[in-house]
Amino acid sequence: MTLTDTASHFLHPDRNLAMELVRATEAAAIRSAPWIGHGDKNAADGAAVDAMRAFLGTVNFDGVIIIGEGEKDHAPMLFNGEHVGNGRGPSCDIAVDPIDGTSLTAAGRQNALSVIAVSDRGSMYDPSAVFYMNKIVCGPEGVGVVDIRKPIAENIHALARAKKKDVGDMRIAILDRPRHERLIEEVHAVGAGTRLLLDGDVAGGINAARYESYIDMCVGVGGTPEGIITACAVKALGGLIQGQLLPKDDEERQRAIDAGHDLDRVLEANDLVSGDNTYFVATGVTNGELVRGVQRKGPIIRTESVVLRSKSGTVRRVEADHLAEKWL
Ligand code: FBP
Repeated sequence: MTLTDTASHFLHPDRNLAMELVRATEAAAIRSAPWIGHGDKNAADGAAVDAMRAFLGTVNFDGVIIIGEGEKDHAPMLFNGEHVGNGRGPSCDIAVDPIDGTSLTAAGRQNALSVIAVSDRGSMYDPSAVFYMNKIVCGPEGVGVVDIRKPIAENIHALARAKKKDVGDMRIAILDRPRHERLIEEVHAVGAGTRLLLDGDVAGGINAARYESYIDMCVGVGGTPEGIITACAVKALGGLIQGQLLPKDDEERQRAIDAGHDLDRVLEANDLVSGDNTYFVATGVTNGELVRGVQRKGPIIRTESVVLRSKSGTVRRVEADHLAEKWL
C-alpha cells in the first residue's frame, strides 16, 4: 500500500470482511466448547463445522473453499470447492479450519483455535491434497535474514542478531513429533530453547510472527492447509513464512507432480497467497497464548478473537459476550 492509498483508505474506508467472518469462528468455538475434554475430537470438529457453515452463509460474499480441512483423518469437513457466503459481494478464496487442534480440544488442552482466512478469488495456493509442508515462520525482523534452505542453527543465529537477542533467549516452536527429533536436538545444540507444541501450528506460527510474543520462530513439518492459513495472517503481521510441500508417500508425490507442483520449490508468502488483500480471524476454543478460550460466565458465553487484515495491517482483538440462552 502506498502513502496515497493509505490516505485514501482512511478518507474512504472500505469494508473489513473479517469483522463479519469473526461471527463464524465465534459460533464454531461456542458450539465446540461443550466437547472440550470429552475425548471425541470428531464430535467437537463436527459441531464447529456445522456452526461455521451456517454463519458463513449469512456473510455478504461469494466464497469458494480452496483449503477445506478434515480429509487427513476423515474428520467432518467443509469441502474443497464448496461455495460459502450468500453469493453477494466480493468473490473470494477461503481457507477454513473450524478447529485447529481437534485433539487438544478433545483432551481439554490449551491452544485450540477456530480459524478462517480469506483472500481475493484466485489468489490462494491450491496444494492439491499434499497434506504436509515444511515451514518456517517468524516476525518482520526475519525478512531477508531467515531462509528455510539454511540450517536451523544459522537461522537462529541470524534472527537473534536481527532481534538483538542472545541466542540463549531465543524460543523456537516445533510440533512435538518423532519426525522432529533431530531438529529439536539441533535447536538445543545452538543453545536456544524450544517451545514444543502438542498440536496447533497455526497458533505457533502466528505467535512466532507477532510482536510481543514469547516465541521467535516456528519451524518444522505441519499441515499444508495450516501453512496457507498462517500465510494470510503473516501478510497482515508483516513477518516471514516459507514452505515446501512434503508428500507423505509416492502416491501423493505423483499426484502433486501431476498437478504441476515443483516439490523443490520454496513457497514464499506471496506464493501461498498472492496480493495484499488477506483477512484472518481466529477465535479461541481453549485458552492459549494468542487468545483465551470460550468461557461460561453465568448467563454469558465470552469469546476472544483476533481479526487481522493485510490491507490496513490492523490487528484487532474482539471480546464478545453472547447470551447463553440464545445458544441452547
Ligand atoms: P487438527 O486439528 O486437524 O488435528 O490439526 C492439528 C495439527 O497439529 C495442525 O496444527 C498441524 O499443522 C497438523 O495437525 C500436524 O499434523 P500431524 O498431527 O499429523 O503431525
